[in-house]
Formats: sequence, structure tokens, C-alpha cells
Amino acid sequence: MNETAIRPGMDCVEIALGERSYQIHIGSGLIDTASSFHGLPAGRSALIVCNETVAPLYLHRLENALEVHHAVVHALVLPDGEAHKHWATLNLVFDKLLQHECDRKTVLYALGGGVVGDMTGFAAACYMRGVPFVQVPTTLLAQVDSSVGGKTGINHPLGKNMIGAFYQPLRVICDLDTLSTLPSKELSAGLAEVIKYGPIADMAFFEWIEDHVDALMARDKASLAFAVKRSCEIKAWVVSQDERESGLRAILNFGHTFGHAIEAGMGYGSWLHGEAVGCGMVMAGRLSLSLGLVDQAFVDRLASLVKKAGLPVVAPLLDTHDNVGRYMELMRVDKKAEGGAIRFVVIDGPGRARLQEVPDDLVAEVIRSSCASA
Ligand code: NAD
Ligand code: GLY
Repeated sequence: MNETAIRPGMDCVEIALGERSYQIHIGSGLIDTASSFHGLPAGRSALIVCNETVAPLYLHRLENALEVHHAVVHALVLPDGEAHKHWATLNLVFDKLLQHECDRKTVLYALGGGVVGDMTGFAAACYMRGVPFVQVPTTLLAQVDSSVGGKTGINHPLGKNMIGAFYQPLRVICDLDTLSTLPSKELSAGLAEVIKYGPIADMAFFEWIEDHVDALMARDKASLAFAVKRSCEIKAWVVSQDERESGLRAILNFGHTFGHAIEAGMGYGSWLHGEAVGCGMVMAGRLSLSLGLVDQAFVDRLASLVKKAGLPVVAPLLDTHDNVGRYMELMRVDKKAEGGAIRFVVIDGPGRARLQEVPDDLVAEVIRSSCASA
């Protein structure tokens, strides 16, 4: 593990992955502080990848902090949005690295939300077969989920996140101050992934979120700090046991099978990833109910929290002629599918989850009962 740069007032969560272990630093003012990057490789050059929204807010601040670590700090500003999470945008990162003759010691910094983080991580995994990279997440969703655990990649028109690699960052630096500029809709999208950790792993945390959802929506710093820390601890616990998703890690995809179908079916960027996951969790809760694993009260509680977090609970129609068929078609293009059979993360009792195949008729009924009518 790289040397630490832990300071008073800062939380630190460790991801234990042997020689790929690293720390998640959570606190205020971290991107402005050179010591946040202490102990990381100090190659001659660095490339900060961000997007057109985040650059005017935070790029100069990170550039300043990195000046003492690297002789040259390059920056690449990508177009914003999920719709740009594809090959052509990824190629811009390679163009920049090659134009500047960046070598194997060049450090990539992903400054932004999950889209920038996933693409930068994938670029780092591929460039010269692997260069060091650091995640500097600036959305709630990225701080509690996407920057942690080493899943990197891009979308394909036929399926979300279908092209990618497992590639761990050297450190994750969550500066809570960056959340102050996040649009409310994006804050809600991040809360979907926070809520997710309750039903799959920790009902005490779920209760805490129920009690603090208003404070979280109001961006109370202490509440956000706890939500980020507890989410990262749960994710770290799961990823440390199953880095490459041969089993347990799949539970982190609770709500995502329905959610990915919504994202792809509506067109990437139409529904935010977190919105689709929020609605998808309610659908997956209903599926668990239909399997007799949880009761109606549990599903109502989940739906109520998702709604309070400002997220949709009514699923969109993806096809006016054959809506169920369209959902099924999209859900078959899922990394959890095996031999064409869709597998869902279901709640196996509050606070526990598992992956299982579910009969098509039960899935169809959940889609019918969850969707807006035509
Ligand atoms: P995003 O990266 O699109 O960011 C959301 C929006 O907020 C963007 O418009 C962005 O420019 C803007 N933004 C970012 N930081 C800001 C700030 N501090 N102030 C103001 N605006 C800011 O979306 P996201 O929700 O962060 O991430 C979603 C992506 O993450 C999806 O592509 C999803 O597939 C991926 N994801 C990956 C993992 C993983 O394990 N790798 C896990 C969950 C989600
Ligand atoms: N967000 C799911 C995972 O990291 O496995």
C-alpha cells in the first residue's frame, strides 16, 4: 500500500487487496492540499482528466496542489455526460497521452463523477498496459461507489459498461467540499447508491439514512461525511473479499439489472444512473417480495426512502407495443447473465442479498406493476 497522508479531521477507509491495497481519504479541503497526494508516485508528468463542467470549478485547484509532485501537469477536458462514455471519448485520453509523449510513470488523475472516473481508470489500465491512477471523485455517487473498487470502462450501444477492466486506483480522495456545487438531482442520484448498502448489507445504516435523509438532501456536512464513510466501508468489505466479482460482489448491483435496462432503453443520459438504480431497487425489492423473501412492509419502506431521496419509483415505458419484451431483451445484455438467463440481486431478508435466476413470469409481473401506463 502507498504511504499515507492522513490528517486530523480526515477519515480513512482501507481497501485490503494485497499489493493492490489502497486508502480512501474522506474530508474537507483535500483537493487544495498538496499533502493529500503525499506518498503517491511522483512521475515527471501527470494528466488530470475532467470534463467541461468540473474543469471551471476544480481543475486549477487540483493543478496547484499537484505542482509540487510533478514537473508537468497536463489537463484534458472531456465533454460532459453519460452519452460520451464511449470509445471516441476514451480515445481523446490516449491522444493526449501520446501527444505529450507520456511514459509509463505518468500518473492519471480522474477529477469528476463516475463517467470521468470509469473512463480515466480504463485509460490508465490500457495505456502502455497500465499506468498509475488516482481517483478524485466530485459527485456523491462517485465518492460512495464508482471511484472505489477498480471497475473501469465504457458503454457500448448494446449494453452499459460492457467494455472495461478491473484496475485499482492508488488512492481515492473524496473532498466533501466539492459536493456543495453538485446539482440537487445529482445529489439524489448519489443517494440511490448510499441507500443500496442498507438492504444488501446493513439495516442499521438503512435506518440511519431514513433518519438523516433530510439532512443529507440539505448537504449537512457531518451527515454526508458519515454516509460516504459507511458506504465506502461496506464497499471495501465486499471488494476485499471478491475483487473480480466471482460471487459476493454482485450484491453491489442491487437494482442495477432493471436500472441498466432503463438507462439503455431510455438512451444513456436520459435517466441518470442513480435515478435508474433507485427505481431499479424498488423493482428488485418487489421481485424479492414475489419470491417470498421479504414482506410488503419492507418494499414499502424501501420505496418510501427512495422517493424521499428525490428519486423516481415509477419505471418508464421502454416500448409502447411490447414493454415487458423490451425490458427482457435489454436485461439479457447484462454481465450477470449466464447462458442467456438473467440473474437478479434479490434481498434475502433485510440486510442480506444474493444473486439468483428468477422465472420470467415473475419478472414480467414486476415490470408490469412498476411501469407508468401508456
Ligand atoms: P457523472 O460523472 O455524469 O456526473 C454527474 C454530473 O455532475 C455531470 O454533469 C458532472 O459534470 C457533474 N459534476 C461532477 N462533479 C460535480 C461537482 N462537484 N459540482 C457540479 N457538478 C459536478 O455521473 P455520476 O453519477 O457521478 O456517475 C455515474 C457513472 O458512474 C455511470 O456511468 C455509472 O455507470 C458509473 N458507475 C460506476 C461504478 C463503478 O463501480 N465503476 C459504480 C457506480 C456507477
Ligand atoms: N458498483 C458495483 C461494483 O462496484 O461492483
